[in-house]
Amino acid sequence: MNLSEKTFIVTGASSGIGEFLSKKLAQKGAHVVCAARRADKLDLVITGIKSQGGTAMSVPTDITDLQQCKSLVEKTIERFGKLDALVLNAGISMWTPFEEMNDVSFFRQLMETNYMGAVHCCHAAMPHLRSTGGLIVSCSTAQALMGFPNHSGYAASKHALHGFLESLDIEMRDEINFLEVIMGWIRDTELRENALGPDGQKMGENKRKHTSQSVTLDDCTNAIIAGIETNKKTIYIPGKLRWVAFLNVFFKAFLRRKVSKAVDDHTD
Ligand SMILES: NC(=O)c1ccc[n+]([C@@H]2O[C@H](COP(=O)([O-])OP(=O)(O)OC[C@H]3O[C@@H](n4cnc5c(N)ncnc54)[C@H](OP(=O)(O)O)[C@@H]3O)[C@@H](O)[C@H]2O)c1
Repeated sequence: MNLSEKTFIVTGASSGIGEFLSKKLAQKGAHVVCAARRADKLDLVITGIKSQGGTAMSVPTDITDLQQCKSLVEKTIERFGKLDALVLNAGISMWTPFEEMNDVSFFRQLMETNYMGAVHCCHAAMPHLRSTGGLIVSCSTAQALMGFPNHSGYAASKHALHGFLESLDIEMRDEINFLEVIMGWIRDTELRENALGPDGQKMGENKRKHTSQSVTLDDCTNAIIAGIETNKKTIYIPGKLRWVAFLNVFFKAFLRRKVSKAVDDHTD
């Protein structure tokens, strides 16, 4: 895909991967519609894009609300006349062993955001993406393909997202393209700070740290852009994650030891 003059919606554009990706898409000449709940943060992103000569618009949106997702797509069409790509990036995480949870009701919040939010956006965007032969990009995780300690509700929501989009991909055959981005640890985003703990409250950053294995936002978003430009169906960031699905079938015990150690390495 040549990004020039293409219209993108990026959800979760107020921080982290979504913010970086929106800026890079705009630098490539795309028209970017930035969505998230925090209007003030979105305004800063838009100002940054415009100051570099890019074209962007913010539409404050809570993706757990179907009507807001419909309105996001309508405003995009009103302003730019078409939609070429939807980036399903908005998401929230968690960090707690299941047994230590005092209240599991926040699992709904994970499902409502990471899964139903994507369903809402896809349903609203589908007719427009079909008419442009457009693209749906999902910013997902290796945890969509395997179980992961301390992340049971997050892994479940990303499994749901994976199953949903794989099914849509078959239904839509050649009418809409799909790119699944399978990521490991990406540093300097707000995901950890906002991850939900045993009481369903944001945990803050202090208990967990990133190792040198984590990927920078710059490398991560460069890889996503390259995947879009070269019409890839799946990309892995870092590349070694391409082995996860294979290992989970043929070397499950080995993979489980690796992920348990990874969680230990990320905990003080
Ligand atoms: N960082 C990693 O290590 C990593 C690894 C694998 C996958 N991912 C995935 O990458 C995506 C982006 O994560 P990130 O690391 O960039 O984290 P981040 O900095 O916390 O960004 C998450 C974004 O989602 C938005 N969001 C959350 N709930 C929303 C809602 N209900 N409606 C609309 N927007 C909502 C947030 O904005 P508001 O609060 O303003 O709404 C924020 O812009 C997520 O889907 C995450 O699962 C991240």
